[in-house]
Amino acid sequence: MNARNMDETVISAPHETDRLDPRGETAASAERATLRGHEAPVRIAPVKLGPVDVPAPVVLSPMAGVTNWPFRVLCEEYGPEGLYVAEMITARALVARNPKALRLCRFAPSERVRSLQLYGVNPSITEQAAKIVVDNNMADHVDLNFGCPVPKVTRRGGGSALPWKTDIFTELIQRVVRVCEPANIPVTAKIRVGIDHAHETFLEAGRIAQEEGCKAVTLHARTTAEYYGGHSDWSRIGELKAALSIPVFGNGDVWGAEDALEMIRETGCDGVAVGRGCQGRPWLFANIRNAFAGDPARVNPNLGEVCRVIERHAELLTEFYDGDERMAVHDLRKHIAWYLKGFPVGGSTRRAFMECESIDDVRREIGRLDPTVEYPPRVVDKPRGRVRFAKKVHLPYGWLDSRTTTHEERETLFGDDPMDASY
Ligand SMILES: Cc1cc2nc3c(=O)[nH]c(=O)nc-3n(C[C@H](O)[C@H](O)[C@H](O)COP(=O)(O)O)c2cc1C
Repeated sequence: MNARNMDETVISAPHETDRLDPRGETAASAERATLRGHEAPVRIAPVKLGPVDVPAPVVLSPMAGVTNWPFRVLCEEYGPEGLYVAEMITARALVARNPKALRLCRFAPSERVRSLQLYGVNPSITEQAAKIVVDNNMADHVDLNFGCPVPKVTRRGGGSALPWKTDIFTELIQRVVRVCEPANIPVTAKIRVGIDHAHETFLEAGRIAQEEGCKAVTLHARTTAEYYGGHSDWSRIGELKAALSIPVFGNGDVWGAEDALEMIRETGCDGVAVGRGCQGRPWLFANIRNAFAGDPARVNPNLGEVCRVIERHAELLTEFYDGDERMAVHDLRKHIAWYLKGFPVGGSTRRAFMECESIDDVRREIGRLDPTVEYPPRVVDKPRGRVRFAKKVHLPYGWLDSRTTTHEERETLFGDDPMDASY
């Protein structure tokens, strides 16, 4: 049921699907069950995004608050030559030269492809942001965020709400491509299935992205209402792949290397994008690299090895924060919780990590752990991070009434883009 108040439209759709795994009853899943454990062939091929080569079709999916360069460097060191995308940068924040946004635009010298993601609602502001990226040689690839389900973003018509308005969606891509193409910077789009199943947008959005010059599309196969709940419906990735000629990256619920193979096998997609699965497990990219190469070896480090990654992560973050160890260690806290997930580490030790203020504090706590503890089998390749459904979907007032915007709607939308760099 939809409710309206003066400012916004709210859809109450707590569970888009009752089934935890919407793939559960499909013919594909029966086939999947048969294939599991068998050597069914999977076609893994390099992907080309215009001038940018992606020899191994795997993407570190952008994650706000997670995929800054220190984490990307760790993932890329383990992984193959894929794409390791920075977290989304708010176009308006970049245009305003917001220092936090500028910090998020930094790349490490070792990064093979500088992949930056822009988020914008206003085509003109997003074009200006793209121009800044081009004029200052800030990236080799620009991804556009049309997948964010966070209420703060969708209630302004942004992220996964935007493809519903085909006029703004088309114009925004057109303008960014117009700026990036002459600079040889490929533009890609990241989308969801739709707002909910009554308002699906992915096939149309994919076609528009392709027509307007995007070099690939990534589909997170959930709706906004599904948020991060249940399982993404990979059959939709197959549908999109069948509808488009540009590469399609499948996204959603790749928790281990076998999931990556299975997604490609099941959907025919050109590559996979991995988000939550690598939280606290950057070595997942080593496993995917091996799986793509047909090598059965898998990395599952013991606690001592995990702690060495934590220490290195802390050092890289300190560099990211220009030597500010306190900021680095605060940023590291959520990662430590993910790194230690499933290990037999008691509550008081975990709390002590959360109270660390310096790298020495972190080292001290590491010194109290038993480095010989093996990686806990019960968390290998299992879900982690956000897993819930949206309680409600928040949209601008009257958003669903029409597929295009009125003059008044544009005035309201573009008058107050958020100035902050995060969501
Ligand atoms: C903490 C967090 C932050 C995210 N930030 C972004 C973002 O900045 N841009 C974006 O396009 N998607 C973002 N996402 C979505 C992920 O890129 C990905 O599409 C989603 O998590 C589904 O993939 P997964 O099942 O592999 O996690 C974020 C997800 C999480 C959990």
